[in-house]
Amino acid sequence: MSSPLPEFPAGFTWGVSTSAYQIEGATSEDGRGPSIWDSFTHRPGTVVDGSTGDVACDHYHRYAEDVALLAGLGVGAYRFSIAWPRIQPDGTGPANPGGLGFYDRLVDGLLDRGIDPVATLFHWDLPQALEDKGGWLTRDTAGRFADYAALVAGRLGDRVKLWITLNEPFVHMSYGYGLGLHAPGRQYLFDAFPVAHHQLLGHGLAVTALRALTGSPIGITNNYTPVRVQGVTDADRAAGATYHALHNRLFTDPILGHGYPEIPGTDPSIVHPGDLDTIAAPIDALGVNYYNPTGVRAPSDPDSPLPFDLVPLDAYPTTSFGWPVDPDGLHELLTGLRREYGDRLPPIHITEGGCSYDDTLDAHGRCHDPQRVAYLDGHLRALHRAMTDGVDVRGYYVWSLLDNFEWAEGYTKRFGLVHVDFDTLTRTPKTSYAWFRDTVTGPA
Ligand code: BGC
Repeated sequence: MSSPLPEFPAGFTWGVSTSAYQIEGATSEDGRGPSIWDSFTHRPGTVVDGSTGDVACDHYHRYAEDVALLAGLGVGAYRFSIAWPRIQPDGTGPANPGGLGFYDRLVDGLLDRGIDPVATLFHWDLPQALEDKGGWLTRDTAGRFADYAALVAGRLGDRVKLWITLNEPFVHMSYGYGLGLHAPGRQYLFDAFPVAHHQLLGHGLAVTALRALTGSPIGITNNYTPVRVQGVTDADRAAGATYHALHNRLFTDPILGHGYPEIPGTDPSIVHPGDLDTIAAPIDALGVNYYNPTGVRAPSDPDSPLPFDLVPLDAYPTTSFGWPVDPDGLHELLTGLRREYGDRLPPIHITEGGCSYDDTLDAHGRCHDPQRVAYLDGHLRALHRAMTDGVDVRGYYVWSLLDNFEWAEGYTKRFGLVHVDFDTLTRTPKTSYAWFRDTVTGPA
């Protein structure tokens, strides 16, 4: 952190990201229907601190204050997600005017401040009514998603500057339907593969629907992790390759026209003729979320239901989540994407990067988070190196603007540039907020 950051190209987008269920609260206002996250968090034992997103950061009521925080940060773009159950309370049928109205006001508020709205259509909060019919295990959900996308784009298509169809479909599949750690809390392991296919199909159908209603770029956001094989045997290397295929390739290969990678235990019979063409509808942007590398080796238990073990990486410092901090991993994954997909790779937008630390207010009411500053500084340098090495990256969005509801970790993990007191909902910009503002706008 001693030397100034290298200069990023003119036109590079600096932004921050959030998602609806993690910040909005107001879960039953203005006609919003229940989502799988409402049901999941209200089931005892699902969230470490027993909390829910019922209030979260109360962004639904305080969005004007949050837009002012964005303006103070000087960012050029804000990535938020739209809650499907606000738009279609039951997941089908006409749009709910109350729900569309909220995002309409938010988008106009951003544009008034010169901030580009970047909208994610699905950040894991499926309408409960669709889950009751099978959720993403059911092919029909893909079509419902495209209908919903069209309703949103019909209203906001003239003002949203970048569309992201799905956020991290791998995490939604594996945590939500494979391991049961996230909503909807199903534990189907590899039988969750239809969730991959139907999300991808929904993505492809939504891209086509959006094209008709907006001239803005369209993409998808995936979570990527460099795999660090922890072992020297062929079995360890095979386990690493399987994990790479599952985490990094399953949601990228078919989108970029390569079809599905081979993954042991998955059933390809759900893929209908023509589906792969639908999924490979051209996109203009690949959203990349990067947090950490993953240690993988062959299963130590021969009866393990998974073909790999995930193991801690002791060589790195860790965040309060226990996630290894490795900026080089960002360079590795970006150059790896370029190598694997060549000219088929669309321009990349780093739609999330960030870290959780146990941030507290000091006696003067200030929040000092030098570890987050170091994290971001290191990752921006690694990003710049990847760009110098030829990877086309258009922007970087910090996760997150605010401390928020961190899924199964509730309010115990803080990722924000802005501290939130969850009793009073007071927002306090951290040191990293000022640092990022200076990075974005240049020192005062
Ligand atoms: C998700 C966010 C989440 C963040 C930190 C990403 O996987 O998109 O919703 O809060 O990581 O865990």
